[in-house]
Amino acid sequence: MSFRGPTILLFVGFLGCVHAQLKLGFYDSSCPRAEKVILEFVEEHIPNAPTVAASLLRMHFHDCFVRGCDGSVLINSTSANQAEKAATPNQTLRGFDFIDRLKSAVEEECPGIVSCADILALAARDAVGVIGGPFWRVPTGRRDGSISNSSEALSEIPAPTSNLSSLKTAFANKGLNDADLVLLSGAHTIGVAHCESFSDRLYNFTGTGDQDPSLDGFYAANLKKNKCRDATDETTLVEMDPGSFRTFDVGYYRNLLKRRGLFESDAALTTEAAAKAAIVNLVDSPPQTFFAGFAMSMEKMGSIGVQTGSSGEIRRNCAVVNS
Ligand code: HEM
Repeated sequence: MSFRGPTILLFVGFLGCVHAQLKLGFYDSSCPRAEKVILEFVEEHIPNAPTVAASLLRMHFHDCFVRGCDGSVLINSTSANQAEKAATPNQTLRGFDFIDRLKSAVEEECPGIVSCADILALAARDAVGVIGGPFWRVPTGRRDGSISNSSEALSEIPAPTSNLSSLKTAFANKGLNDADLVLLSGAHTIGVAHCESFSDRLYNFTGTGDQDPSLDGFYAANLKKNKCRDATDETTLVEMDPGSFRTFDVGYYRNLLKRRGLFESDAALTTEAAAKAAIVNLVDSPPQTFFAGFAMSMEKMGSIGVQTGSSGEIRRNCAVVNS
């Protein structure tokens, strides 16, 4: 008996492991053209709207950090439920319509086969590729979750006011290490932010109308003069990597070393010797080093808490749980 118990446990553990795995080309037999349909759609539409690439990348991150990469970020609120979309960090997400249109194209090819979570993961990867960014592998087989809760999104998605230790904890909670934190933050080489995401650093850092001393003074003055003209600006968008916000490069890390990261969470990455050394290394290395590291961390991020096998569902409409 003492032998059988652990053996059964091991076996069940092994099965659990197999079920928990994504695999490359999961749809090869069930919907052989699925990945092609997604790539073609992205290749057709992203060149007309290149800023959507950043939005999709961020959406995939926000999906994975709340209940794993299960498409829960895509679900609409109902009268009975405030979904993740309603949470503050998600109110600035864009590109939901892009995913809906993509889902329709995939459904036309093979109805009810490809999950919204996989569509988002593949679209984010392909869109970044179209704008010249790194390529990473996206094993598939994610299933869609049916729970989407705004308060969970608020607590799981790191805030731009986070310091280094809370960022590390938020990432470690998802199985991501300090290197992943530095590499994935590099996503801020593309895209834009609303003034309100960082205006406390310009106008009210400690509650006395002061400025964050860790932010470069010239840059802060420029932002106040030309972008975020007052503390209540909710509409102006600021390039996170000014001058090359559509180009995936090490510009973001260069800015960090000049104390020009937009968020406290960006600036936090230079507050520790080890993280700063990693950033210096990325800046000094050929671009391929950042690309390769980013790709590895994205593959890891894309597998956070995934539901596979018979768990979850394949949502028919990405914004609505199947009834
Ligand atoms: C480390 C913790 C992180 C924090 C605190 C954070 C916070 C933010 C905030 C506040 C914005 C601007 C939202 C706005 O004002 O419109 C933003 C934008 C963005 N974030 Fe992050 N982020 C983090 C990590 C990541 C990661 C891991 C990724 C992807 C792998 C990512 C991708 C992006 C992208 C691409 C944008 C631009 C979105 C657009 O242009 O629509 N971020 N982030």
